[in-house]
Amino acid sequence: MLDTSDRSEVREPIEIASRDEIAALQLPRLRATVRLAYDKVPHYRRAFEQAGVHPDDLRSFDDLRRFPFTCKDDLRANYPFGMFAVPREQVLRIHASSGTTGKPTVVGYTRADINTWAEVMARSIHAAGGRAGDIFHITHGYGLFTGGLGVHYGAEHLGCTVVPISGGQTPRQVQLITDFRPDLIIGTPSYMLAIADEFERQGLDPRASSLRVVMCGAEPWTVAMRHEIEARFDVNAYDLYGLSEIIGPGVACECAGSKDGLHIWEDHFFPEIIDPATGEPLPDGQPGELVLTTLTKQALPIIRYRTRDLTRLLPGTARTMRRIQKIAGRTDDMLIIRGVNVFPSQIEELLLKEPLLSPHYVLEVTRRDHLDALAVVVEARPGTGAPDEAARQTCAGRLAHAVKAYIGVNVRVRVAEAGEVERSVGKAKRIIDLRPPA
Ligand code: DLL
Repeated sequence: MLDTSDRSEVREPIEIASRDEIAALQLPRLRATVRLAYDKVPHYRRAFEQAGVHPDDLRSFDDLRRFPFTCKDDLRANYPFGMFAVPREQVLRIHASSGTTGKPTVVGYTRADINTWAEVMARSIHAAGGRAGDIFHITHGYGLFTGGLGVHYGAEHLGCTVVPISGGQTPRQVQLITDFRPDLIIGTPSYMLAIADEFERQGLDPRASSLRVVMCGAEPWTVAMRHEIEARFDVNAYDLYGLSEIIGPGVACECAGSKDGLHIWEDHFFPEIIDPATGEPLPDGQPGELVLTTLTKQALPIIRYRTRDLTRLLPGTARTMRRIQKIAGRTDDMLIIRGVNVFPSQIEELLLKEPLLSPHYVLEVTRRDHLDALAVVVEARPGTGAPDEAARQTCAGRLAHAVKAYIGVNVRVRVAEAGEVERSVGKAKRIIDLRPPA
């Protein structure tokens, strides 16, 4: 049940406006965005014409389903600035994804877009319990990645004292956390664990640090991982979602108190869930792929962007704005092992139930005799005393059994030494594909 009694917890009244008020804001914004895209971006004009739709056809939210999707390849095909709806001179900032193959995806922002971004990010930090005057330690990378600068502008806009340390130099991160005594920290969940490990390596207790709130995002992480981070730092950990194509971090965020999914800032982003196989929109509550349309972006309006992220839409709780459930994984991270769909997050959930195992893991996929095989390589938890071979075997056997029982796939489990799994300062790479190229 929505409890809007404590309005002081809300940064902007729109966060708890009635659904009618939100819809009354969204529809004209949606229509204006579709019109802007059609008028200013040749790609959209072509795509709409091919699909036989015109901006005038968008009279209700339901009409949106007639409009074509946009995907990463569309941005690549229009590299670098072909998707911009404003003259390049009005673009104040560029970000880009590194892109493991092919061209990077380039995104751009006008001054108004930068302000919108700072506002949705400030709202997210506020929702997670951050306040003006707090010290905010930012470990997301600064540069073409949207994490560092996106969070930075939002934190400053909220009135925080920002420590823009960026990623890496983990011993120094620990030193600055100890010396500057930040209230909040942000980074990928995997990097938060690397920082906790470094505290312990230096003989310091991360639970004794000044940190009160950890915001994590940029990669999938499970509720079990949340519990791990909360216990290691003695903090509250909140999930923050976003993607460069839509704006960057700050599309959706969990709220302090409820921690029950991420509220999408629906006055700026319009969500749909589709069946990833057919592209058909699904009703709220059904699991599928998240599709987002921007409502206020100027430089890069995006119509029905296929995020590849799997989740479901849920009604509002702490805010009237709808929630997405924690992202289960990306369609492109889904492994199909002998016909069974497997996401790294499912394995993570199970391995964190084993007290002997740490959350540092990778999944190795190999192929033998045309059949795919999956191995889980997971480090033993440090500090439990180096487990002997028999204890490792028992633990590995138990995890393999659980994976078979809950996910339905046979895996080989290898309990590795502490430090064997490569640490990342940014997004963790969970899958190592050792299959020969097709
Ligand atoms: O990762 C933006 C971001 C930065 C979000 C910092 C949160 C914090 P991209 O590099 O474009 O942007 O990657 C976007 O990362 O489609 C998801 O697959 C994944 N992702 C982002 N946040 C979450 C999250 C940033 N909270 C892609 N949970 C998205 C799960 C996430 N996956």
